[in-house]
Amino acid sequence: MQTVLSPSILSANFSCLADDVQRLEKSGIKDIHLDIMDGHFVDNITFGVGIIKSLRPCTKTNFDAHLMVTRPDALLAGLADAGVNSVTVHKEACLHLYHTLETIKKLGMNGGVVLNPATDYESLKYVAEDGLLTRVLIMSVEPGFGGQAYLPMSTNKIKKLTRWRADNGFDFVIQVDGGINVNNIKTVIEAGADDIVIGSAMFKNRKIEENVQSFRKLVGLC
Ligand code: DX5
Ligand code: ZN
Repeated sequence: MQTVLSPSILSANFSCLADDVQRLEKSGIKDIHLDIMDGHFVDNITFGVGIIKSLRPCTKTNFDAHLMVTRPDALLAGLADAGVNSVTVHKEACLHLYHTLETIKKLGMNGGVVLNPATDYESLKYVAEDGLLTRVLIMSVEPGFGGQAYLPMSTNKIKKLTRWRADNGFDFVIQVDGGINVNNIKTVIEAGADDIVIGSAMFKNRKIEENVQSFRKLVGLC
């Protein structure tokens, strides 16, 4: 598949979120990554359903919510109502992962699972076999904050996951999140990543349009 660039608005200016999202959209971005943090699963707190709902009429981009919360199930109906298209939940936070992914599907959204750097992917076989897994998000930093350095082990994990997906005949998207910049994006794509989340590097110096163009060129989108 063609590489997808997913800017994370964690690095946007929260006082003008709609403006920042529209600048991304006008530069050719079609997917926006929404980092929801609750101060429990991770130390940081960001935004929730209310802000996403306010943002929805401002853009036609797909909304992809990454839930860094201890109780993801509590948010699902609200996210669907707010117009979110896909929801990715942390495997470490879900006691009943099958049920959570089933609920996401029933609510009309695409479901995915995020893996922290120290979490394996093998047990996702069961939810993938029943068609509940549309994406696997590999965290290439510990979740919680933007601007961290890419963890080198992530490249091998992406390669192994890519092989595992092919060996099992699965078709989920492989997404990677954390520490991606113009110097390492090609490495993660060559390892097998289809969808690249980019926070601080996409908003660097507030040169949003220039940054999008640089990434689009690097991944062959223009
Ligand atoms: C971190 C978030 C990321 C974050 C990435 O926990 O999940 O989506 O925005 O930011 P960078 O690209 O700066 O690492
Ligand atoms: Zn994220």
